[in-house]
Amino acid sequence: MRISVATIFPQMVQGFLSEGIVARAIAAGLVDVKLLNQRDFTTDSYRSVDDYPYGGGPGMVMKAEPILRAAGSLTGVDYLGGTEAHKVAVTQGHRIIILSPQGRQFSQVMARELSRSDSLVLICGRYKAIDERVKEILGAEEVSIGDYVLSGGELAAMVVIESTVRLLPGAMEDEDSAAGDSFEEGLLDSAYYTRPEVVAGRRVPEILISGNHEAIRKWRRKSSLERTLDRRPELIGERALSKEDRELLNDRD
Ligand code: 6GU
Repeated sequence: MRISVATIFPQMVQGFLSEGIVARAIAAGLVDVKLLNQRDFTTDSYRSVDDYPYGGGPGMVMKAEPILRAAGSLTGVDYLGGTEAHKVAVTQGHRIIILSPQGRQFSQVMARELSRSDSLVLICGRYKAIDERVKEILGAEEVSIGDYVLSGGELAAMVVIESTVRLLPGAMEDEDSAAGDSFEEGLLDSAYYTRPEVVAGRRVPEILISGNHEAIRKWRRKSSLERTLDRRPELIGERALSKEDRELLNDRD
């Protein structure tokens, strides 16, 4: 997989790429991450990437051309010239994503989907917005990571990269661990404990040290369902519960 990030702050992303699962996946050749400095695709002497909004109002808008040139250097398409049909055809195979609070909300399902693509192009906005024509010309999708405002798309791009890369086969030391993660099943994950058995007078739930695998499985399922119902009831509302799930939830203390 190839992931390209177009940003005016490549250094912000650089450090993130050098630690943890993402760094290991890069070292193992599972993914190649390329950083593009949008300023390198400007043509004026000020290297300007933003300008005033048409129609007035506060804030600046990111200019279309530097971003289109940066994207074109990746896809091989001349987005500032050429015919529409040509652009769309060649862009196929690249999934172009603009990170913006106006986008579709990112999710584990989307991370799974992205982990199956060959080329992701992540475009980070700063300032008030990106010129709307960028999205149209690139045939890009807009993705947000949640309902809060960041000063730029860089953190969001890193969120997308980390959640996607850890799903690549071979990226995680313990592949099975990922299958049980929160949201993979549409539920929050259960509570977990490690040694010692007693911390400040609080004991680990007995079942977890009982060695009874079926009882442990049920305990975890119940913990998972309870937490989801308490903290994220809308996740339960969206799914059909099995008979066992309903029994586990009815059996709450
Ligand atoms: Cl993708 N960008 C910005 N600037 N803010 C956000 C976001 C993205 N997702 C949530 N907030």
